[in-house]
Amino acid sequence: MFMSTNLSKQTVLVTGASSGIGQAIAIAMGKAGANVVINYHSDDEAANGTLDIIHKNGGEGLIIKADVSREDEMVAMFANAIKYFGTIDILVNNAGIQKDSKFIEMSLQDWQEVMDTNLTGQFLCAREAAKEFCRRGVVAGRSVAAGKVIFISSVHNIVPWAGHANYTTSKGGETMLMKTMAQELAPQKIRVNSIAPGAIKTDINKKVWSDPVQAKELLRMIPYNRIGEPEDIAKVAVWLASDEADYITGTTIYVDGGMTLYPEFAYGG
Ligand code: BGC
Repeated sequence: MFMSTNLSKQTVLVTGASSGIGQAIAIAMGKAGANVVINYHSDDEAANGTLDIIHKNGGEGLIIKADVSREDEMVAMFANAIKYFGTIDILVNNAGIQKDSKFIEMSLQDWQEVMDTNLTGQFLCAREAAKEFCRRGVVAGRSVAAGKVIFISSVHNIVPWAGHANYTTSKGGETMLMKTMAQELAPQKIRVNSIAPGAIKTDINKKVWSDPVQAKELLRMIPYNRIGEPEDIAKVAVWLASDEADYITGTTIYVDGGMTLYPEFAYGG
């Protein structure tokens, strides 16, 4: 049977879609034919920029400003998106932040804010999306699954990272949330997976890749010898959301140029 990565007639909600990986995924999903709900937290202009690009490519979009860590805002966001486009077929749980500090200096606030956005936010969105997938079920001719959830994780779901205990813990937690959801919801034909990016050129790590000395150091940790682009992640997200990937659930796909291959061992050991 011929299948494709065409997502027409489907609606995707991407959190944190005003910049970086989320923006690239929103644009790629629009190009693949999906209606795109662009969630963002604070940068109005950037969110409009995402929508403009989707429109220029002939796609449809809806911008919703909301904080993923707030239950009331997430319930309202999903209700509005479903009212506008009729339903939701794909959730990309992308919104994430870093608040780095040495472990013994880490404030409860920095710990909590990272958990709230990176983990609780993903839980709230995934729950609302799964409710809609369960309510609606499979629609013939649209997708063989009732719904797809893609978590944007990180190599730091398995790679410890000194100075980032809140971030790594949120990503480790995300992995078990993803797997548990995948096990629980598979009978309802809902696929749940993660993409774990390595170092991708976005604002979150701009300080590192824009500095030649630090960028060189970073490349030592990437056997494939280039820093990733947001589009590297977006392409995989489109494929993973499509029926081409129908038998994949409960998995993390590393898109990291080999960052998880213990790169230091290339220099000795
Ligand atoms: C972090 C980036 C980092 C990358 C690789 C990501 O999850 O957000 O800051 O460059 O992991 O270490």
